[in-house]
Amino acid sequence: MTIQKATNIYWHKGAITKQDRERLLQQNGIVLWFTGLSGSGKSTLALAVEEKLFERGHLCMVLDGDNIRHGLNKNLGFSPEDREENIRRIGEVSKLFSDAGLITMTAFISPYRKDRDQTRGLLKDGEFVEIFVKVPLDIAEERDPKGLYKKARAGEIQEFTGISAPYEEPLNPELVIDTGKMNLAESVRTVVHFLEEREIIKKA
Ligand code: ADX
Repeated sequence: MTIQKATNIYWHKGAITKQDRERLLQQNGIVLWFTGLSGSGKSTLALAVEEKLFERGHLCMVLDGDNIRHGLNKNLGFSPEDREENIRRIGEVSKLFSDAGLITMTAFISPYRKDRDQTRGLLKDGEFVEIFVKVPLDIAEERDPKGLYKKARAGEIQEFTGISAPYEEPLNPELVIDTGKMNLAESVRTVVHFLEEREIIKKA
């Protein structure tokens, strides 16, 4: 648990609620939390879902691990403590975006169950949708889009997820997308169908 350092701080509540913003945007503000190995296809899938939803008039925001580490989280590395802080911050940011009424998608390895569960705990029931982007390690390693698995095997990168650092698979994810078996279009359809069934967005 992160300690509360600041004292003498007070919560200001505005007249406009999350529900008001959701009504304006005609959608539910939720968090789709994509988790999986590097190279599993989290970012590709999240961005493709965003495109599909945008076409249908929905406002989304995708937060991607590599991108966020260029700015907000540039002071964090890949130790377990830094990954924990990475996910804690993104959990808070995704809560802010979902409170704004946006369909918020995060694409972080987020390898530790307790860190993902902590984010789930920040949100109300149904607002946190854990999507396990599942792929066998050998396929992710074969894809190696950034050449990082090769470097990790050569010992040039330490604490690399799947090679020299753990990945804890979700035990009860809302959705599993096996990108080793499903192509991108099928994966997008599965996520969009899920959102329709849960009445997070209206059917097309
Ligand atoms: S997380 O574990 O803290 O959730 P995050 O998703 O932000 O990771 O960043 C993962 C991305 O950083 C990978 O896709 C990869 O491009 C890059 N990366 C660099 N070093 C490592 C490492 N040691 N382990 C995993 N990913 C790394």
